[in-house]
Amino acid sequence: MMWRYKVLEVVGLLSLLVFWGMILKELWIILYTCYLGHVLGHNIKPRKLGKWAVITGATDGIGRAYAEQLASNGLNIVLISRSRDKLQALATTIECRYHVETHIIDVDFTQGAEIYERIARDISGLEIGILINNVGMSYKYPEYLNQIPDASGFAQRVVNCNVVSVTQMSIMVLGQMAERKKGFILNVASCSAVVPTPLMSLYSSTKAFVYKFSEDLALEYKPFGIQIQCVLPCFVATKMSGIKISNIMAPSPADFARGNMNSWGLEVSSAGYWFHKLQWIYYRRLNQISPSCMANVTYNIMMGLRKRAFDKRAQQNKVVVPTAVVNPPVAPVDRHSLARVDRDLNDMWPTLSQIPRYGITLHAQTGF
Ligand SMILES: NC(=O)c1ccc[n+]([C@@H]2O[C@H](COP(=O)([O-])OP(=O)(O)OC[C@H]3O[C@@H](n4cnc5c(N)ncnc54)[C@H](OP(=O)(O)O)[C@@H]3O)[C@@H](O)[C@H]2O)c1
Repeated sequence: MMWRYKVLEVVGLLSLLVFWGMILKELWIILYTCYLGHVLGHNIKPRKLGKWAVITGATDGIGRAYAEQLASNGLNIVLISRSRDKLQALATTIECRYHVETHIIDVDFTQGAEIYERIARDISGLEIGILINNVGMSYKYPEYLNQIPDASGFAQRVVNCNVVSVTQMSIMVLGQMAERKKGFILNVASCSAVVPTPLMSLYSSTKAFVYKFSEDLALEYKPFGIQIQCVLPCFVATKMSGIKISNIMAPSPADFARGNMNSWGLEVSSAGYWFHKLQWIYYRRLNQISPSCMANVTYNIMMGLRKRAFDKRAQQNKVVVPTAVVNPPVAPVDRHSLARVDRDLNDMWPTLSQIPRYGITLHAQTGF
């Protein structure tokens, strides 16, 4: 009997050692990719890769922050976004502030193949050292896929903007980078690519494509001297996230871009920012230890966000919302809970119970 306890003690100790070994390794990687690698000069030096950087979705948020950081490093910048006025204003600011050249291209990445002919024409002849595939679009609020207004049109636009843009822009620059045997492509995905993200399944899956595409492309083009990184941020304080004031969990775009640039060339996939890297460790471990708990947490967060969006819309439309709707019961995900969520939602919005799956009446009521 005694020896059995001894064996169990040894197994327990070994497991603890392995667990802490893994945590320490992850902390070391964070330290190296955020600070040490940069201090030791192991990360990419943008200026050495070519004279120009191309950035999609460049006039706001994370894209604009990369544009300014790279211009401050002395690179000329090709800025690509939809709005010509915003592009012109940013180009003037960058030229005056950093004394570099700029080129602007106004295209809408939700459109089809025709826009790439124009972009290819506009950037031909430029020595492009860096491409940042940053443009992306998300849901306005978490929603069931078939309940999104104009769901199939929306799906096409999301795939064009988040998937086709990354693929086409990469095809456009890889040839000339391979000829010069140097170049760097940064693909902006999202942590939703790797954690459960119900009610945003289309967005998260497009980002999962970006993640896998980048990892394989990185292997494919390594022999040609081209480095590729996929950055998978958690929240950043931008228009897309709707977070107005930055904090430790949601850094400003400038802090995020600066942090991420320290890791260029040091890791193929990166959370980008030191606190997001810590969040990643937590998500990964939680997912390993209890995937159902992870699913629970994210499901309830998404349902909460969805409800907030509906409440806000109801308030704007001056619809009186009963208290039960403002504070709905939390619905854990387990084998019984999906039915419970259905029932709870039907209680919240009585009109919903008139239809088999909620949505159509709600749509008419709230204008979503
Ligand atoms: N913010 C976050 O918390 C977060 C988290 C994870 C991942 N991300 C990813 O980070 C990337 C940048 O997001 P962000 O938060 O910086 O967004 P943002 O602040 O909303 O900026 C989006 C930029 O893209 C341009 N843009 C939007 N739709 C476009 C289109 N259809 N065609 C051309 N340009 C378009 C916008 O300019 P115009 O309006 O002038 O076109 C703007 O310059 C996205 O890929 C997003 O998925 C963001």
